[in-house]
Amino acid sequence: VTAEKGGYEHFMLKEIHEQPRAYRDTMLGRIDHANHQAVLPELKLSAEQIKNIRNIQIVACGTAYNAGLIGRTVIEQFARIPVENDVASEYRYRSPIITPETLVIVVSQSGETADTLAALREAQANGAHVLAITNVVGSSIARDADDVLVTLAGPEIAVASTKAYTSQLIAFYLFGLYLAQVRGTMTKEEVAHVLAAMEALPEQVEAMLGQADTIKSYAEQIAKHKHLFFIGRGQDYAVVQEGSLKLKEISYIHSEAYAAGELKHGTLALIEDGVPVISLITQEAVMEKTLSNIKEVKARGAEVLAISYEEHAAELLKSVDHVIVIPKTLPVLTAALSVVTLQLLAYYASLALGHDVDKPRNLAKSVTVE
Ligand code: G6P
Repeated sequence: VTAEKGGYEHFMLKEIHEQPRAYRDTMLGRIDHANHQAVLPELKLSAEQIKNIRNIQIVACGTAYNAGLIGRTVIEQFARIPVENDVASEYRYRSPIITPETLVIVVSQSGETADTLAALREAQANGAHVLAITNVVGSSIARDADDVLVTLAGPEIAVASTKAYTSQLIAFYLFGLYLAQVRGTMTKEEVAHVLAAMEALPEQVEAMLGQADTIKSYAEQIAKHKHLFFIGRGQDYAVVQEGSLKLKEISYIHSEAYAAGELKHGTLALIEDGVPVISLITQEAVMEKTLSNIKEVKARGAEVLAISYEEHAAELLKSVDHVIVIPKTLPVLTAALSVVTLQLLAYYASLALGHDVDKPRNLAKSVTVE
């Protein structure tokens, strides 16, 4: 059994460590180095169709939904197309506005999630073109979609998704760039800049994995708590939603992810002495704002961890109790690094509590009922 796990104690840890490889494989053959562009020859979607897209809806469940939240920030920034995110089990019932100029992106690791499959069919019935981002080539979702972008994470066994999520992010970066190239919303230099930063990600993740001990000791501290908060702004907010889900899934510690600026509109009342607040603070444009939100929770007794870049560590330590640093990348790509810290945090918290990391109670890897 340990052989299957490649020497790791759990599949989840093995899969976390496979991420550098998964990033590389998902990028492989999809970057044209000579011309500095993303190439996705597998897509049937024509340049004409891409130019006509008026809106994009990203539909998925669970962790794949959270990947879609990042997908939205990426596509809106790169291609300037309005994007909505929907939970698949809600999508059909809100009579979404779908036209032939709507692109629907369904995201599913397994390609078998019943709600996501039903959403795909609803979108097609209304004339939308459906692109599936999935990890399983022969899956129902891959078969039914009009277009498929395969993630090359490899089989994911642990119920808590890690490498599938991050490979979905890579797929979104590539697809976002592809849209931008066709629609002319980015210069060649801008695309080249993003591609270079993407190609540095695998090594950056490797470096992070070598420093997991800091995260482990922090995880052992939070394992003593019954509930905690995650905060962030912009893309950091999307990432903490995944971090919070991961922690809940396998450690059973209750947590809530909040947009940092929204905390004061109610939930601040729950912050009292010693409550851990994990703040992801990588988006430099809103750093000052998040810092003032951190001060609000500190004033109410919260114990604050900040996850940020090395260059901000000294300054942050004036306001927070702990800092964990992550390698630096472009703001739009930061999720591919920061989430790794949160995956490890959930893993080590679950381990400290003695839970079944790979098979958490009440959850299934793939849910084929609506
Ligand atoms: C289940 C799993 C989650 C997963 C979700 C969507 O609830 O426990 O980890 O994110 O299904 O799965 P999919 O295969 O569609 O990505």
